[in-house]
Amino acid sequence: MKYKIIKHPLHIAIDGPVASGKGTISALLSLRLGIIYIYTGGMYRALALSCLRNQVTTANETDVLAQLQKISITLSPKVNGDSSCLVFLNGEDVTHEIKKPNIAQTAPLVAKIPEVRKHMVLLQQQLAKNTSVIMEGRDISLRVLPDAQLKVYLDASIVERAQRLFLLWQKQGISTSIEDARLAAKERDAHDQSRSVDPLQKTPDAQVVQTDGMKPDEVVDAIINKLIAQKLIEPV
Ligand code: C5P
Repeated sequence: MKYKIIKHPLHIAIDGPVASGKGTISALLSLRLGIIYIYTGGMYRALALSCLRNQVTTANETDVLAQLQKISITLSPKVNGDSSCLVFLNGEDVTHEIKKPNIAQTAPLVAKIPEVRKHMVLLQQQLAKNTSVIMEGRDISLRVLPDAQLKVYLDASIVERAQRLFLLWQKQGISTSIEDARLAAKERDAHDQSRSVDPLQKTPDAQVVQTDGMKPDEVVDAIINKLIAQKLIEPV
């Protein structure tokens, strides 16, 4: 089934904790609606990668900011045939490299720096200007797109999220356990929920989609139904 967007630009904000399915759902929704999705976590991960490569201590905010000034981080969202949002660091495609666990662990340490967030939020808002987008991250409903027509908070139990993270690690050839995945997810969420600026939270105007036991297409259908109910899209 195809859908028509009733009024452009349509902004859909998707937030949620680690391994709640934001990336998978955003990519599928992007294909179904024919609009791009923007992976904001990729920007924080790219900065984390750059800090690690250049031995920049993430605890030193001035050094992290100096590093941020030296690099270019760009996102390349595509919706033709397949939906993807590639991440480039100084022109190098780092989309796969930034998925590694050590980068995931380092990203919240750079993401908690207020000046880093200011910089990233501006870039993200520019990407959405006059463009229909699905944007996923942690502060999209709250800060990046506060006027988004639909705000979704994707959630799942820690048991399910640990299982998903474990499977992702297995696909990457990393030998580990579900318990390690559970601990890593909990630690990262704790960082993201406790930082002083724009911590991860369910904003009062966000609709929670609890995804335990749901297949990705079922989650996408649930979001599509909300968009239809709010008269933001219609089947054609
Ligand atoms: O979404 P992903 O897990 O790739 O994000 C990596 C990290 O980037 C998060 O754990 C969080 O610290 C940070 N992030 C953020 N704000 C966003 C997106 C990601 O602080 N909008």
